[in-house]
Amino acid sequence: MERRLNRKVLLGVSGSIAAFKVAALVRDLVKAGAEVQVVMTRAAHDFVAPLTLATLSGRPVLTELISGEGTWNDHVHLARWADVMLIAPLSANTLSKLAHGQCDNLLIATYLSATCPVYVAPAMDLEMYRDASTHANLDLLKARGVRQIGPESGELASGLSGEGRMSEPEAIVARLHADLIGNSKLNGKRILVSAGGTQEAIDPVRYIGNRSSGKMGFAIAEEAALRGAFVELVTAPTNLTSTAAGIQRADVVSAAQMADACKQRAATSDVVIMSAAVADYRPKHAATGKIKKKDAALSVELEPTEDILAWMGAHKPAGQVLVGFALETDNAEAHAQGKLERKNLDLIVLNSLQDAGAGFGHDTNKVTLIGRDTKAEHLALMSKAGVARAILDRIETLL
Ligand code: CTP
Repeated sequence: MERRLNRKVLLGVSGSIAAFKVAALVRDLVKAGAEVQVVMTRAAHDFVAPLTLATLSGRPVLTELISGEGTWNDHVHLARWADVMLIAPLSANTLSKLAHGQCDNLLIATYLSATCPVYVAPAMDLEMYRDASTHANLDLLKARGVRQIGPESGELASGLSGEGRMSEPEAIVARLHADLIGNSKLNGKRILVSAGGTQEAIDPVRYIGNRSSGKMGFAIAEEAALRGAFVELVTAPTNLTSTAAGIQRADVVSAAQMADACKQRAATSDVVIMSAAVADYRPKHAATGKIKKKDAALSVELEPTEDILAWMGAHKPAGQVLVGFALETDNAEAHAQGKLERKNLDLIVLNSLQDAGAGFGHDTNKVTLIGRDTKAEHLALMSKAGVARAILDRIETLL
């Protein structure tokens, strides 16, 4: 199974001969979808070239708290950026400093600032690893929530054989994947998500829009990426930015552009979730110049846009899960059920406009999930991230 690990990984490298394995580790992490920022101790430079790790990670390697002409490497910001911190290899010296709160380099300052899960992969020779102080230090770290990976038994750089070898890159990635992604059925799946409200030009200055903020679609995209999916997010204009790893974003403006972008991606998607609020009508002729104010009334003739979701349903490849959204004011469930059947959907998410805190612009939402063969599932008011989890849980049962 290909393991997808869409996470921002802060990789701390300390001075141990096992640092030579870090090049393969960075490559494996990047291949799995991770964004990797390497922070090395000065001693680690003797074992692996920073240029190698910078090239493989695509980011400059950081070592000093203050580098060059007074450039401060902001350890707090680095720690906040990370979804997970991994210190591999962890040398006896860095272990001891972590255990006792010493802070004389960037790697340790970043560790002290980290609020994300922290993993360590110790690497040292047999007797060093066996030493009581090493075990006491590891126990201190584990008591504070740090998770240990390895070491393994085998041949050591000294020529001795025994415990102390850093775990192989593949085993480290497998452990992170097992802990962070688990056995989500979305791992490795391609997911297309549409988000935001389209804008239909009246003239170069004005447009017809709607109140969609894009928050629901972005929350779905982020949660799917966390579960190991390749996510393509086609979004109409929004103020939102997503910094989550594993999301490919395509920006569009109008319903026609959204239709093009979604259709291009539809055939190769395992799951399609159309959460965008797409305009049903657009001005038949957008003026090329700004429309001047006159005393008389102004009419703008509208024509229907293409129903993207209906197109998706008509061209749905075998095995694809197609999810639509609905916003209804009267007879909501019956209308949503009708839409599900008419548009060949597998699941429809019925939005509530009635409930306080639900719908446009809010950070919370209240929805009802209607599938093909089950009765409506009414969810409580919850964060849009919570709604995204519920929708994706339901989709996982359909895959
Ligand atoms: N949708 C779409 N293309 C459109 C309009 C809507 O793909 N041109 C999608 C939306 O992304 C959403 C779903 O259709 O997933 C439902 O949109 P909604 O406005 O509730 O329903 P309509 O199908 O437009 O039907 P009606 O206006 O009759 O309620």
